[in-house]
Amino acid sequence: MAKVTLSVIKADIGGFVGHSAVHPEVKAKARACLEKHPLLIDHYVAHVGDDLVLIMTHEHGRNNGEIHKLAWDTFVACTEVAKKLKLYGAGQDLLADAFSGNVKGLGPGVAEMEVEERESEPVVVLMADKTEPGAWNLPLYKIFADPFNTIGLIIDPKMHCGFAFEVRDLIEDKKIIFNAPEDLYDMLVFIGAPGRYAIKRVFHRGTGEIAAVSSTQRLNLLAGRYVGKDDPVCIVRCQNGYPSVGEVLEPFAFPHLVSGWMRGSHSGPLMPVSMDDARPTRFDGPPRVVALGFQLADGKLIGPNDFFSDPAFDNARRVALEIADYLRRLGPFEPHRLHLDEMEYTTMPQVMEKLRDRFIDLRLAKKARAAAGGEA
Ligand code: F6R
Ligand code: MG
Ligand code: MG
Repeated sequence: MAKVTLSVIKADIGGFVGHSAVHPEVKAKARACLEKHPLLIDHYVAHVGDDLVLIMTHEHGRNNGEIHKLAWDTFVACTEVAKKLKLYGAGQDLLADAFSGNVKGLGPGVAEMEVEERESEPVVVLMADKTEPGAWNLPLYKIFADPFNTIGLIIDPKMHCGFAFEVRDLIEDKKIIFNAPEDLYDMLVFIGAPGRYAIKRVFHRGTGEIAAVSSTQRLNLLAGRYVGKDDPVCIVRCQNGYPSVGEVLEPFAFPHLVSGWMRGSHSGPLMPVSMDDARPTRFDGPPRVVALGFQLADGKLIGPNDFFSDPAFDNARRVALEIADYLRRLGPFEPHRLHLDEMEYTTMPQVMEKLRDRFIDLRLAKKARAAAGGEA
């Protein structure tokens, strides 16, 4: 059989209610657009929070214009439904009025991998809301480079060679490959700063095959203004030379802090939840992550297995809520509120302008005193 491409393309085209969830009619519309489409082998329409996620399989490779156009047209059709229902922020992630060949850079988030389907091909699709692409850095590091998470790195001969990480500089649009384990200390200098550096791809070092891919768009930068959080998706291949499903899910038992949450301007715990529970409420959060497992069968998507519905993640949710309680008490103070240049919303320029005359420049005042022969 030809290679199979798994394309996960997502957009926020309107929230129900506010920025909380996707309306069932919007999902139904997306299903209708993709149903029995001649370009696709199979599809599954998912959501996380207010993001509509199209999971599609086909034989047309990555960055295929027709597949991207299909996703774009689906989002446009869904936006019509969102507008009819007057959903909140209808069409917010469709930044261009017309499609121009590839959705990358237009607004929707994209993660795609082309694979030679193995005898059995388990994959996990991770989807997060109220956060940013760098949110995958810590879990991907643990999954593919940390033997305390992934024992397979030590005791599975097919994984012992390690993995290579392609890291993107989202500000300067550069990429670099780090080889684990020997480059780990260098890599951590960068990926520990997830607002700027994001892991885009992971490769198996023995075979060179793709192991994981994430979406790395930064919507706020694309638009040159704030238009919505760049909520990310990620695809991870599992088992038989790749991390097991349990090794892929294990990092999410620790609800690490990510940037996003309320108004894209706060730090909060990434709470693992089922798709049904992916409805950020409290202070528009806390940020959520959903993990859907599929077996590929000649490109058919057998699934999903909604992994975080498992009570094994109850404790992570409890810890996440405790962290949320703690952080919320900081209100508008850092480090709950993000650092000034990481916030998606700010009134700083207007407030600064309003108060300009009330600020006294102490260096000038000092100089004036010195010139007048007074105390410096
Ligand atoms: C964050 C998010 C929400 C909104 C907030 C204000 O990613 O989606 O927290 O930022 O609800 O939304 P607007 O400005 O649309 O009223
Ligand atoms: Mg929204
Ligand atoms: Mg969202």
